[in-house]
Amino acid sequence: MSKVKTQYSCQSCGYSSTKWLGRCPGCESWNSLVEERVGAEAEFRSTRDAVLEMAGVHGTSVAGGASDWVPLDMPESEEGRPTQPQRRLRTGMTELDRVLGGGLVPDSFVLLGGDPGIGKSTLLLQMARGLRDSHPDLKILYVSGEESVEQIRGRAHRLGVKGGEHIFLAAETQLERVFATVKELKPGLLLMDSLQTFASGFLESAPGSVSQVREIATRLMALAKSAGISVWLVGHVTKDGNIAGPKVVEHMVDTVLYFESEGGQSYRLLRAVKNRFGSSRELGVFEMDGEGLREVSNPSSLFLSERKEPVPGTAVSAALEGSRPILVELQSLVAPTALAVPRRTSVGMDTARVSLVAAILEKHMRLTLAEQDLFFNVAGGLRLSEPACDLAAAASIWSSFEERPIPSGWVFIGELALTGEVRRVSQLEVRIEEARKLGFKTLVLPKSGMERLGKIAQGIELIPVGRIQELPKIFR
Ligand code: TYD
Ligand code: MG
Repeated sequence: MSKVKTQYSCQSCGYSSTKWLGRCPGCESWNSLVEERVGAEAEFRSTRDAVLEMAGVHGTSVAGGASDWVPLDMPESEEGRPTQPQRRLRTGMTELDRVLGGGLVPDSFVLLGGDPGIGKSTLLLQMARGLRDSHPDLKILYVSGEESVEQIRGRAHRLGVKGGEHIFLAAETQLERVFATVKELKPGLLLMDSLQTFASGFLESAPGSVSQVREIATRLMALAKSAGISVWLVGHVTKDGNIAGPKVVEHMVDTVLYFESEGGQSYRLLRAVKNRFGSSRELGVFEMDGEGLREVSNPSSLFLSERKEPVPGTAVSAALEGSRPILVELQSLVAPTALAVPRRTSVGMDTARVSLVAAILEKHMRLTLAEQDLFFNVAGGLRLSEPACDLAAAASIWSSFEERPIPSGWVFIGELALTGEVRRVSQLEVRIEEARKLGFKTLVLPKSGMERLGKIAQGIELIPVGRIQELPKIFR
């Protein structure tokens, strides 16, 4: 029998203490420490050794021995060139590959978070299908702690996913049994659905508790890194938007993906919020329909309205999400306020940024916004963090204030300085190209940097602006 000891773990940040505390020193939340009983065996045994032993990968290493070390440089290939830094597995879904940074890295540990019902399990199954088709030598094990094997089979059948000799299912919640299965089956990809349902037999606490979540993540990470298995861990998201369980899980994994949708819409946005193998700003767009998730390769159509007649208060910008340009409609509503302090409300763009743009308009264009409420919205639920959308935001506020619609087919790109200057933005060419592709005819751009654009902009009218004061003059 192993000795059991008691510890108190904070359920929001993972801080642990030997005695109970009213307030967590880690994250300062009150009453978040909960008693958890920890098996002594789990405490004193090196997790890595335990995992290696169970996975049957290497012999158990001897405690006290030196770590392995390797030279920094890549091994040379036959032609004398360094070998490829990382092999990538194509998932068969372009949107997913891009968010991952060019495909799945074989020994990566990925956390996929999202609200229940958003489509995480569906995404895993469709990814398994894509990988099976493009990598016939890859074995995939899908372990579900939430659904029975029949349920997963039923869903896979509806999605047209065939496993053959490549995709296997297990309905299991105990981690040690999952490891035993891994040892027998030797999959190259392990899908764990979901973090909150698994538990290690070494710990007495309930599934989903901090110590369980931490233990599971630690051991899955060791499995990924030591056995070269790619591990995906699904995590449900709490009301405040964090993956339920301690932050420590996000620190441990290589990649954190969030799957989300906006206000009951059928499309889904997949974002990398952390990625050790690529940019963490990439966005993948999918649509959920009767046949599962469909990739949306031209997302601009989602974020632009279909209305033909221009209305006051809207302006289009070309934002950049990671490497990809997206045209998006910004909407403003400016109306006289009944309050002493007028309201500034923004959805999709930082409220402070919108207030700043409004202040620039007040100062440099003499817009009397001080007695006006301002409601600002980014169409389609996209979240913009780029200053390159400032000019469009200013144009939409101005248009609502003056009740002058901006002609259709116009796009505004540029950052605003407090001085009222319109400043250049990165990757202007990419943005212009996207606008052209979508049939936009007139681009309002920062004056600086225009010289370089001669060739690219053939067939569209470019209107350079140096200062925000010039805005009204450009509408003839
Ligand atoms: P699911 O992948 O189970 O979500 P999660 O694992 O994130 O909880 O997705 C469930 C939702 O998706 C469910 O409401 C039904 C819907 N759905 C479709 O609309 N079409 C489909 O083809 C499938 C498989 C699911
Ligand atoms: Mg699910």
